Amino acid sequence: MRVRKEPGLTFDDVLLIPRRSPVRSRRDVDTSSVLVEGIRLHIPILSANMDTVTESEMAITMARLGGLGIIHRFMSIERQVAEVARVKRAENLVVENPYTISPDTTVAEARRLMEEWDSGGLLVSDAEGHLLGILTTRDVLFEDDETRPVREVMTPRERLVTAPPGTTLEEARRILHRARVEKLPLVTDDNRIAGLITAKDIVKRERYPHATKDQKGRLRVGAAIGVKAGELERAAALVEADADVLVLDIAHGHSDNAIEMLRRLRREFGDTVKIIAGNVATAQGVYDLAEAGADAVKVGVGPGSICITRVVTGFGVPQLSAIIECAQAAREVNVPIIADGGIRTSGDLTKALAAGAQTVMIGGLFAGTRESPGFIVQRNGRRYKLVRGMASLTANMSRQDNVELDPEQIVPEGVEAMVPYRGSVVEIVNQLVGGLRSGMSYAGAYTIPELQDNAEFVPITLAGLQESKPHDVELI
Ligand code: XMP
Repeated sequence: MRVRKEPGLTFDDVLLIPRRSPVRSRRDVDTSSVLVEGIRLHIPILSANMDTVTESEMAITMARLGGLGIIHRFMSIERQVAEVARVKRAENLVVENPYTISPDTTVAEARRLMEEWDSGGLLVSDAEGHLLGILTTRDVLFEDDETRPVREVMTPRERLVTAPPGTTLEEARRILHRARVEKLPLVTDDNRIAGLITAKDIVKRERYPHATKDQKGRLRVGAAIGVKAGELERAAALVEADADVLVLDIAHGHSDNAIEMLRRLRREFGDTVKIIAGNVATAQGVYDLAEAGADAVKVGVGPGSICITRVVTGFGVPQLSAIIECAQAAREVNVPIIADGGIRTSGDLTKALAAGAQTVMIGGLFAGTRESPGFIVQRNGRRYKLVRGMASLTANMSRQDNVELDPEQIVPEGVEAMVPYRGSVVEIVNQLVGGLRSGMSYAGAYTIPELQDNAEFVPITLAGLQESKPHDVELI
C-alpha cells in the first residue's frame, strides 16, 4: 500500500494566476485545438456520448459551432449508423447520392419518405438513375388524393434547372439565384444523376464558417463503441457510414479489455479511422492506450455530474490532478488528451485546458438543452430534462445486451437526475467560449498551447473559494 504525498486537486481547489497580457481584444484569441492528428476543432468542446446528451441533433449543432458530438452507443447498430448518416447529410458541398424515388411512388409514400429522410425535396428517377423530375413539399402540400403517382404531381425534367458534375459552389449559387430555385441537380450528358447542390447547404456554409467539416464539406461526427466482441461489427458499420472518430467507451479504460479491443480495432481498420480511447486517470493509463494505438486518450474517472463511481468503488482521481498527470505523459508520447467530466463553468473549461487537455467533453451541462434527446418535464411550474449516468440502474436495464440481467445484480455507478431546461445549447457554448476567451486574455495567451505554457495555478482554501463566488449580497 502506498499513499501519495500531494492531495489530489480539482477545479475548485485552484485558481489561475493573472499575468501581463498583450491581448487587446478577446476577439484576437484563437480557441482552436487538436482533437486527434488531422482533425482540428475551432472550439475545443465535445458533447458526451450519453443517451441523454448526444444523438444527431446535438452532434449537428456541435459540429456547426466548431466542436464535435459523439453519438452514444446505447442503441442498435442500425440506428446508430442512421444517426451518423443524418449528421453527415446535414450539410454538404455536394450531396453525392441524393435520395431518389420512382415516378410510380404514391403521394402518401413520398410524404412518408420526406419525413423519414428529413428532406423537403426528392429527385425522381428511373431504374437506371436518369433524372425525371423533382418532388418538393410544395408539390404535395395540398394534394388531397394520396394515391396519385408522383409522376403526376412532380416538377418534370423539362422545367428543371440543372448543371453538369464539377459545378463549383460559386457557379451553383449564381444559377440558383438566377432561376430562383432551391435545388440544383447535377446531371451527366446522358441525364444521369451525379449529385445535388441545395441553397440550404450554401446558406448554412455561410452562416457557420467555423463548422467542423471533413474533406467533402460534410459535418464531422464521432460515435461510441463498447469493448465486447460484437462491437467490432458496430465499429465496421460506423466506419462504413463515414464516422470521423470512434470513441472506445469503457468506464475503466486502463484495462486489458480496452487494450485488446483497441489493438483489434487497429488491426481491423489500420489508419482509416481515428480512435479515441478511455477513460483513464493516470500517466500509465495514457502510455498503455497510446501504445495500443489510441489517437487520443480520454481522461476522467469519477468526476462526472452523474457519476457515483468514487462513492461505489472508492476509486478515482480528482480531475485537475488527473489532467495534469495525464497531460505530461501525453506530451511524451505525442497524443492529445480530452478532459472528460466535471465541467460546470467556463472557468472549469479554462482550467482543464490550461492544465494540459487539448479538448474537453461535456455531459450534464448540455443535457438540459433543446438539442439533447428526451422530453421536457414540468415540475412545480419549472421545466426540466432528464439526465442519467450510462452506468445508472435504468441505463443498465435498458441496454439491449443486458436484457437477461437481474436488476438486483446491477451495481449502478451512475445516477438518474433532472437538470433545468436551458434552451439551445448554442447559448451555453457561446457563454463557455466567451469565458474561455476572457480567461486566455488573463493568461496573456493567443492560443491554447500558449495558455498551457503560461498557466500557473495557485491552490486555494475554502475561504478563497467563498471569496471567488458572489458573497455578502442578495442575488436577484
Ligand atoms: P459531466 O460532468 O459533464 O460528465 O456530466 C460527463 C461524463 O461522465 C461520465 N459518465 C459516467 N461516469 N458513471 C460514471 O462514473 C456513469 O454512469 C457515467 N455516465 C457518464 C462520462 O465519461 C461522461 O462523458
